[in-house]
Amino acid sequence: MHKDFIEIHDYSAAEVMQIFELAADIKANPQSYRRTLEGQTLAMIFEKSSTRTRVSFEVGMFQLGGHALFLSSRDIQLGRGEPIYDTAKVLSRYIDGIMARTFAHKTVTDLAEYSTVPVINGLTDLSHPCQATTDYFTAWEHFGKNLKGRKIAYVGDGNNMAHSLLFGASKVGMDIAIATPAAYQCDPVVVAQAQADADAAGTRVIITSSMEEAVAGADIVETDVWASMGQEAEAQKRQQDFAGWKVDKRVMSLAGKEAIFMHCLPAHRGEEVSAEVIDSEQSVIYDEAENRLHVQKAIMVTLMKR
Ligand code: CP
Ligand code: NVA
Repeated sequence: MHKDFIEIHDYSAAEVMQIFELAADIKANPQSYRRTLEGQTLAMIFEKSSTRTRVSFEVGMFQLGGHALFLSSRDIQLGRGEPIYDTAKVLSRYIDGIMARTFAHKTVTDLAEYSTVPVINGLTDLSHPCQATTDYFTAWEHFGKNLKGRKIAYVGDGNNMAHSLLFGASKVGMDIAIATPAAYQCDPVVVAQAQADADAAGTRVIITSSMEEAVAGADIVETDVWASMGQEAEAQKRQQDFAGWKVDKRVMSLAGKEAIFMHCLPAHRGEEVSAEVIDSEQSVIYDEAENRLHVQKAIMVTLMKR
């Protein structure tokens, strides 16, 4: 298939479906996979904090019979300026796969270019494909395998989550509406690529600054924090700029009757989403978090199984 998992955009709809089918089988029959990656080691490089990504990859690797190494960039020489080129070449001599969470997206693409082992994007400033793939897998479980014609609405910051959801929608046949304040729009290059993918797949991409327009009739309403990791200094300004962008009961009432609420977590109750919504029956946040484990096991098996 592919050496790496950097963007959903790089994968065809059929390949995404293969990952979903494998994730569903791994979820239903975990015992059948307990030796699939026996003797293999995954290096997990983190420049940023993590709860879900770290734990789900480490547990996932253990459950597949392998081993995971947690490498904080503060502790390895990469954090002191050792070139990515040398890091990638050296790690490739020891380990069987790399998962990396970095600030610059180029760090992950460079790791992929210079390493001889698979590289998985565990979140960059540009994208978060493991999470978006998991969110669509969660929708696939919830609504059934045919997602064609369904609509996902993402509201809030045009950030890494928005980008990966944009890339993923056409792969599962869904329409996507993204609503952001004018000053916080998605990267135009990502939007153009997602639009081209959507045109080829016959799905729709709607970019708007109206939360109401995006959410109208949606099957999924998703949001994310207003200030992502690395944007802490802007947090206060963003609180003001995003005033009125909270997903609350009123916003959810504009979506479809059976609509579900998604959030990659961590969340700030009372900011981008009300507690009433995130803790309601409509919310599937813990299914998303759990499914990170199953989907990432499927990704690791797809890339690393010999
Ligand atoms: N959703 C997500 O990636 O969570 P962590 O930052 O805890 O890994
Ligand atoms: N957009 C958030 C996602 C965290 C999982 C961030 O980058 O901090």
